[in-house]
Amino acid sequence: MRADAEFDRLETDRLVLRRSRPEDAETISAYRSNPDVNRTQGWERTDIESVRADIEEMAARTPGQPGGWVQFSVERREDGRLVGDVGISPADGEPGVLKVGYTISPDVQGRGYATEAVRALVSFAIDTLGAEVVRAYADADNASSIRVAEKVGMHLVERSEHREGNEVWSIVRYERRRDAASR
Ligand SMILES: CC(C)(COP(=O)(O)OP(=O)(O)OC[C@H]1O[C@@H](n2cnc3c(N)ncnc32)[C@H](O)[C@@H]1OP(=O)(O)O)[C@@H](O)C(=O)NCCC(=O)NCCS
Repeated sequence: MRADAEFDRLETDRLVLRRSRPEDAETISAYRSNPDVNRTQGWERTDIESVRADIEEMAARTPGQPGGWVQFSVERREDGRLVGDVGISPADGEPGVLKVGYTISPDVQGRGYATEAVRALVSFAIDTLGAEVVRAYADADNASSIRVAEKVGMHLVERSEHREGNEVWSIVRYERRRDAASR
């Protein structure tokens, strides 16, 4: 796997994926603070300052570089509106495995934006960064997230149970291998 120091943007029919910038923090904070969105992701802090600090920290990393997430903001081409964000991170201690994450603002969900953005991200991970495996985790009851993973060619690999105090929940791991037939 390699890092892409030249990364500029990924373009799809309707979207542009570009490095998140500090000035995106207000918009991203607003949708991450939505209880329905935050419930599925479990970010500890979604206030503007924390989101901005995360973006600034990630700005120092190159996509594909081990050591943490890099985030791209997803902009709609027709009006330049920031509609969501996606992230990519090498998995610790597993060479060739790249994790992806994705969020779309609730008011524009259900229009295929996540599928379109994540499909471009998966192609970038495999074709440009040379990933052997692209992986996404989701709560087992997060049907829309699982549907997006399936639509970009990922398959269920593992279901695991997690406990914290009295709380128990299931996490599913979806993966697409470089040599998979469907792209
Ligand atoms: C998951 C998420 C990114 C999907 O964004 P989106 O832009 O609405 O996704 P798309 O429109 O590309 O596709 C959603 C698919 O899920 C399906 N879906 C949505 N809700 C569903 C439900 N309750 N049950 C089954 N399928 C559902 C849609 O029908 C669509 O599939 P289809 O095209 O076959 O009809 C968005 O819901 C989100 O940000 N959720 C909160 C954060 C999150 O869970 N992120 C994923 C964890 S990494």
